[in-house]
Amino acid sequence: MTDLTTLEADVLAQVAAAGDLTALDAVRVAALGKTGSISGLLKTLGAMSPDERKERGAAINLLRDRVQTALNEKKAALESAALDARLASETLDLTLPAPYRRKGSVHPTMQVMDEMIAIFAEMGFAVAEGPDIEDDFHNFTALNFPPKHPAREMHDTFFFNQKEDGGRMLLRTHTSPVQVRTMVSQKPPIRIIAPGRTYRCDSDATHTPMFHQVEGLVIDKGIHMGHLKWTLETFIARFFETDAVTTQFRPHHFPFTEPSAEMDVQCDRSGGEIKIGQGTSWLEILGCGMVHPNVLRACGIDPDEYQGFAFGMGVDRLGMLKYGMPDLRDMFASDGRWLSHYGFSAFAAPNPASGLS
Ligand code: PHE
Repeated sequence: MTDLTTLEADVLAQVAAAGDLTALDAVRVAALGKTGSISGLLKTLGAMSPDERKERGAAINLLRDRVQTALNEKKAALESAALDARLASETLDLTLPAPYRRKGSVHPTMQVMDEMIAIFAEMGFAVAEGPDIEDDFHNFTALNFPPKHPAREMHDTFFFNQKEDGGRMLLRTHTSPVQVRTMVSQKPPIRIIAPGRTYRCDSDATHTPMFHQVEGLVIDKGIHMGHLKWTLETFIARFFETDAVTTQFRPHHFPFTEPSAEMDVQCDRSGGEIKIGQGTSWLEILGCGMVHPNVLRACGIDPDEYQGFAFGMGVDRLGMLKYGMPDLRDMFASDGRWLSHYGFSAFAAPNPASGLS
């Protein structure tokens, strides 16, 4: 048995001496690996008499277990020491002065949102809000999406894992669920805008997975497309602070409006920058239409008594157009140089009387 005692003392000393995980693994392989010293001992059992094997086998197995335990403990100790060292080396002293001082500025998206809110507030719209994490009912069902509508599919919508009751929450794909929340909780007449974040699985120069929309909803007696058109044209003229903006309505389909349209703004994209009021390109900036009777009914409003219009527009896109940014993705890249170039002073809050920007 002394050979086992010696071997154990020897291996345990090597375990104790291992200075890092690589050295420790070499010790493990030399002892317990296929051709390791302890594995070698186990192979000798086959040639022994049954009695001898019983006694010797038990002793070798105990030795192996003790070595394995020592290896595990040492591994845990080395790992936690490595983590401690990393945490110590990555410590940041937050009380130190910043290496350079960059003046804080208002992000263009927030500026544009404030501008939009200022214009719509002047037209008599109140601001409504809803959660970013929505359920299927508010994001789709109440908005008259048929059960198999493609927008419900994974490639557009970020879904959460299924809950026990089988339902799945999702990141809202538009601000339209706020229409539903507003109609369910308020009586007409309703005149609201709902600014907020929206999410879709999409990324290119004019799409980012997270973007911002402003939803608009008006419900009253005798509301028609003319009211919608006037509201949007008035808004666009004020927002771009010029009458030279050309827009076009294209017939479109949304499940929650009938009839539906998309509005494009004429622009020029030739110089790597987007300029409005010139050029031959069109950039889609909003969807709109008359609220579908099914949506009114789902929200407890009688479509024979009340009608309404709704619109949803991309805030970041309107910012790109107004302030000449070529790529939407830069907006959310958190690059300090971009923010200093395009950011706004925190002291220049937009209001329609003193100018928006
Ligand atoms: N929710 C639509 C979208 O995100 C926009 C929209 C809002 C269209 C309201 C019509 C009415 O594409």
